[in-house]
Amino acid sequence: MTEHLIHVQHPLVQHKLSIMRDKATSTAQFRQLLREISQLLAYEITRNLPMTTRSIETPMQTMDAPVLDGKKLALVSILRAGNGLLDGVLELIPSARVGFVGLYRDEKTLKPVEYYFKVPTALKDRLVIAVDPMLATGNSSVAAIDRLKQAGAVNIRFLCLLASPEGIARMKEAHPDVQIVTAAVDSHLNDHGYIVPGLGDAGDRMFGTK
Ligand code: URA
Repeated sequence: MTEHLIHVQHPLVQHKLSIMRDKATSTAQFRQLLREISQLLAYEITRNLPMTTRSIETPMQTMDAPVLDGKKLALVSILRAGNGLLDGVLELIPSARVGFVGLYRDEKTLKPVEYYFKVPTALKDRLVIAVDPMLATGNSSVAAIDRLKQAGAVNIRFLCLLASPEGIARMKEAHPDVQIVTAAVDSHLNDHGYIVPGLGDAGDRMFGTK
């Protein structure tokens, strides 16, 4: 049985995250730290990928060398903040296939509405890692994973930077099979659905839009 939640407490992750939370941190620094953390989180989320061996020749002799097994994995960015995690993870797993899910919140119904969906083929045969820095209410994450499942994905993990207890509970209820890997579980959501203490609006902080 895989654990539903992995909280990565590595000192490097925690140190970098604290700098990112600080409102005095610049956009450039925030983006660089996000790239660095995304690679450390990707290291954790891929820890138990299936392996096989391939016969290779070293300069000394032939050996059965360990290599990743199965189809190339799929990284799916939940727009727009997911793109900040995507770049770093792709550096670590350059042959991964990439998809995008775009959702916005309808202000009347408060329900997520899809405006973009493009994912790699044969999703059912791939490990799918959905990336979004903030698991807040969980509404958009749950909707994005609903869509990935509709598109055939059966083996999905969710990579984020910060999670709220509310978001974790919502995901567990809707998608108990989807493992969450996060650098922190914060205290709560405020009335506007922001994570507290959090780091503010992740998209604005990484793209400098505020
Ligand atoms: N999205 C953000 O960017 N920040 C939050 O705190 C919650 C959702």
